[in-house]
Amino acid sequence: MLHDSTQKKSVQETEKKAPTTSTQDENTSFEVTLRPQTLEEYVGQKTLKKQLRIFLDAAKKRGDALEHILLYGPPGLGKTTLATIVAREMNTNIKTTSGPAIERVGDLGSILTNMSDGDILFIDEIHRLNKSVEEVLYPAMEDHKLDLVVGKGPSAQALQIDLPKFTLVGATTRMGALTGPLRDRFGAIHRLEFYDAEEIQNIIKRSAHILETQIDNEGAKVLAQAARQTPRIANRLLKRARDFAEVGDHGTITKDVAKQTLEMLEIDDAGLEPTDRHFLTLIIEKFDGGPVGVNTIANALSEEVQTIEDVYEPYLTQNGFLDRSPRGRVATKHAYNYLGFKYKK
Ligand SMILES: Nc1ncnc2c1ncn2[C@@H]1O[C@H](COP(=O)(O)OP(=O)(O)OP(=O)(O)O)[C@@H](O)[C@H]1O
Ligand SMILES: [Mg+2]
Repeated sequence: MLHDSTQKKSVQETEKKAPTTSTQDENTSFEVTLRPQTLEEYVGQKTLKKQLRIFLDAAKKRGDALEHILLYGPPGLGKTTLATIVAREMNTNIKTTSGPAIERVGDLGSILTNMSDGDILFIDEIHRLNKSVEEVLYPAMEDHKLDLVVGKGPSAQALQIDLPKFTLVGATTRMGALTGPLRDRFGAIHRLEFYDAEEIQNIIKRSAHILETQIDNEGAKVLAQAARQTPRIANRLLKRARDFAEVGDHGTITKDVAKQTLEMLEIDDAGLEPTDRHFLTLIIEKFDGGPVGVNTIANALSEEVQTIEDVYEPYLTQNGFLDRSPRGRVATKHAYNYLGFKYKK
């Protein structure tokens, strides 16, 4: 008897300690290895962490499930990481999926009915849920009820099922694409900010330590400068610099190794890649600096509008290279100067 229940408990605990981290766009094992496991290990985002700490501790104290949490911000700033940390902090299971992966209402139904009280459902790219799924999600979030219609035509029947008290953690890169009713059903909405230079350096040093790679302060500083204030990019650059150091038989990633790595990748001091420079140069040369519509730019670059808006623009706007006016995108004076064009407006 005693033996039995201990065994059961340990199975449950291992399950809880190993949250699922598999989604379609989900990360290579490299990203998973470097992913912070606790709120304390999570570098930066001070305000968010403080708010989240209180939110988590209060729910724990009450013995309640957490309210639903929405995380938004540009790619690679740590939304998925934060969702796994929340699950770990609450000592619950996390089920990971994404907006486009939940194709039908039935898919959502089977996910939700298979959860337990307190479990976390992480929906990445939540702005891409289809409308019928989203509508079923509203009562599920609000009252923990699942409304289903079974059968078709005159014999169709409405059915309501009680759901476990799950917590939804949603992530999106596009807050603007989220519908009002969905947004309103989150108890907490957190925006992730770009990281400052010191935070990115700390992330690089932390990752280097985990990867057992030597890097000195100057080396970390050079890589951090080019990382677009984004942890995912910082880790990628570190990995490339590590390859470079290994191949060249340098023991440590020094300033020189870091600089040569960036040169090889054609990343400049401001963290701009060839595509960014191409993007700005296009606006300046072809469209006289703008304003030019994002669709026109997307066409000229053979890129998706969404990639431009989510991946390129946030960093360029944040760093004063690009203005987004209602009439379109405008290259700033800073962009002209930086790329060596004469500003004539
Ligand atoms: N605050 C942080 N401290 C340390 N490392 C971090 C932090 N945030 C993110 N990282 C690292 O950056 C990687 C990318 O983070 P994550 O996958 O959570 O980003 P994301 O916001 O979910 O991106 P996307 O929008 O593309 O899904 C993680 O594997 C992790 O190693
Ligand atoms: Mg993610």
